[in-house]
Amino acid sequence: MPFDHNHAYHRLLLRHVPAGARNALDVGCGAGRFTRKLAAAGLSVEGIDPSAEIIAAARALGPGITYRNEDVTTAELGRYDFISCLASLHHVPFETVTKLRAALNPGGVLAVLGLAKPRSAADWAMWGLLAPPVNLAARLVVAAGEHLNGGPDPVAKAPVRDWDTTMTQVRRDSARLLPGSSVRPLLFFRYLLLYRA
Ligand SMILES: C[S@@+](CC[C@H](N)C(=O)[O-])C[C@H]1O[C@@H](n2cnc3c(N)ncnc32)[C@H](O)[C@@H]1O
Repeated sequence: MPFDHNHAYHRLLLRHVPAGARNALDVGCGAGRFTRKLAAAGLSVEGIDPSAEIIAAARALGPGITYRNEDVTTAELGRYDFISCLASLHHVPFETVTKLRAALNPGGVLAVLGLAKPRSAADWAMWGLLAPPVNLAARLVVAAGEHLNGGPDPVAKAPVRDWDTTMTQVRRDSARLLPGSSVRPLLFFRYLLLYRA
């Protein structure tokens, strides 16, 4: 499939890096596609992922980033101005957000691009009606771009996992574990959870 639903949100996530941020942690960094964008934005970045294969692929793509082949739930974390979690929170218990919250510097931001199933009529309207045509158009555009550029991106694919969390659970657990956070649904069965320390 030529269109990656997570990569489509990179620019949105980068907009939430707080002004003056110096360092970042990318949780479940995969091959480091977003991790490298954080580094390119001038941050000192750590990427963490328990898949040895995908961390090796990320390291092979260039120096300048600290890649940690570890499980975020058991790893010893430092303190960060920005923590991103792209399509990886459903790989660990949702409560892991409390560990990430504790790893934020004052004023630091936790930004989760999460996956959830629709629950309310509004969720269904967005994900059931609006997403399919946008998805089709995006796939056609990306496929045409790849065709012109000589084929698909050869970077290794990160491990994926199905999810059963609903938007209702995400909203409820975020309010409980990250008071003051915001959650908003995005296209393609995704949501953006933001918390500022
Ligand atoms: C769907 S991939 C997303 C990769 C990348 N963030 C992206 O957007 O392309 C989910 C990633 O979470 C990682 N992951 C799974 N369990 C994890 C854990 N306990 N700690 C950190 N990362 C984990 C997987 O190995 C995988 O690379």
